[in-house]
Amino acid sequence: MVHWTKAEREIITSTWAKVNQEEAGQEALARMLYVYPWTQRYFASFGNLSSPTAIAGNPKVRAHGKKVMAALGEAVHHMDDIKATYKDLSKLHSETLQVDPENFQLLGGSLIVVLAKTFGQEFTPDVQAAFQKLVCVVNAALSKQYY
Ligand code: HEM
Repeated sequence: MVHWTKAEREIITSTWAKVNQEEAGQEALARMLYVYPWTQRYFASFGNLSSPTAIAGNPKVRAHGKKVMAALGEAVHHMDDIKATYKDLSKLHSETLQVDPENFQLLGGSLIVVLAKTFGQEFTPDVQAAFQKLVCVVNAALSKQYY
């Protein structure tokens, strides 16, 4: 089981509480889709993703970003049990969506960039370290149901 220090827990919960979920989710997903264009293949039903402007204005990207952030919020609220929390989501990405698990780190990394931009000086190395750890644990949990 992952060990979280008191400081890591505090950093993650207090930072998360200040995040604008819809804005951050939209920007993280948009950045992933633009910076790593091969990820667009999974979102064929989302319509126009042809440019940064199209991605930024795409209502499906915004709505989906919010869903992803809600799922990440579940991880923040169940830090000691992320594997179990993500069991069904892992199955969905593996069996139904067939998302290559290599891609999970791309979305997690994009979210870290968005947090760094949002919090500026407040995004200290300690805050980054705590969120990198969270992203690693989330990625491992999402990859758990893959064969
Ligand atoms: C931090 C990592 C991720 C989290 C927490 C996450 C979370 C979610 C959630 C909550 C849903 C909705 C499930 C439902 O409707 O029941 C979803 C769907 C989906 N995810 Fe992920 N996801 C992650 C990474 C990725 C990545 C990296 C990709 C592809 C590159 C991806 C592709 C998809 C697709 C295609 C759907 C279905 C979208 C739709 O048609 O509405 N996910 N994900």
